[in-house]
Amino acid sequence: MHARFAASAKQQTRRRVAFHVPSESELTDSVYRTSALRGRAILLATRDSLPRNVGNSLRCASCHVGGGLRRDAMPWVGSYARFPQYRERSGKVDLIEDRINDCFERSMNGSRLSSNGKDMRDIVAYFAFLSNGIPVGAEMEGQGFPRLTPLKGDATRGMSVFAATCSRCHGPSGQGTALAPPLWGRRSYNVGAGMARINTAAPFIYALMPIDRPQQLSPQQAFDVATYINTRPRPDFPRKVHDWPRGGKPPDADYHVLPPVTSKEKRQ
Ligand code: HEC
Ligand code: HEC
Repeated sequence: MHARFAASAKQQTRRRVAFHVPSESELTDSVYRTSALRGRAILLATRDSLPRNVGNSLRCASCHVGGGLRRDAMPWVGSYARFPQYRERSGKVDLIEDRINDCFERSMNGSRLSSNGKDMRDIVAYFAFLSNGIPVGAEMEGQGFPRLTPLKGDATRGMSVFAATCSRCHGPSGQGTALAPPLWGRRSYNVGAGMARINTAAPFIYALMPIDRPQQLSPQQAFDVATYINTRPRPDFPRKVHDWPRGGKPPDADYHVLPPVTSKEKRQ
């Protein structure tokens, strides 16, 4: 009885709205438009735009595929309207700036932007534009990506899936090629990133990879290859020990850290 009441109360407060990508022509103010379009340029060419804040070979759109405009592909459409938001990982109410900086520090293995600097302003201006017409706190169709029921992955089987299906673009040792970014190693996302969790990576891979012919793997193959990738070494994120301060740490937040960089590698 009590649970049913809670569910219906939630439905009342979270309106469900359609997925809608605003048109650039809605950016009528020329100063705002310049800021938002620079924000978009940063998201699409993150390293070239902000080399000091990016510590790997990814760009924001490496995971938010389709430049964050595709439904069911972790779109940025509507993100601005989904914040502020309580997040279990941080244990506090996060602003969109906090969420952006999370991806800078973890997914991009880099460093935070100043919350009131020009770069952050431009990114937030673009995100606000992408939420045109979406009410604050609404649940949007196509947000995030379709989840899969967790399965137990097998890294050995995953290695075969990787060799057969992924290595032609991501490289035989996951190091990335001109066609696709790295999947592990020093130039990839760090252990604190959402993608480092098998239960996030598997549904992402199942829905979106290979990028030219997605949805050819079975859910089991997606969990196998996600397990293989996320048990390869990648950069550490020392502040991971402060994640989930109020509990709720998911079982797949498991860490496979690279050995510390040697002084010889630092000189290279
Ligand atoms: C390695 C993959 C990866 C990269 C690279 C990445 N992200 Fe993310 N991002 C994620 C994942 C995973 C989520 C959580 C999505 C979910 O659970 O639905 C996320 C969530 C977000 C959200 C919240 C979306 C929402 O509507 O709730 C924003 C905003 C965001 N990322 C911005 C960025 C920005 C800005 C960059 C570049 C600095 C970036 N991301 C780079 C993987 C990535
Ligand atoms: C046809 C080339 C191609 C194939 C094959 C392919 N991918 Fe990708 N993948 C991409 C591209 C391109 C991106 C980045 C998208 C962007 O920048 O717009 C990407 C991004 C990713 C990402 C997020 C970014 C990162 O580097 O961590 C993951 C994870 C991923 N692919 C996993 C896989 C897996 C697993 C397979 C095999 C099942 C696979 N991909 C097959 C092209 C490919």
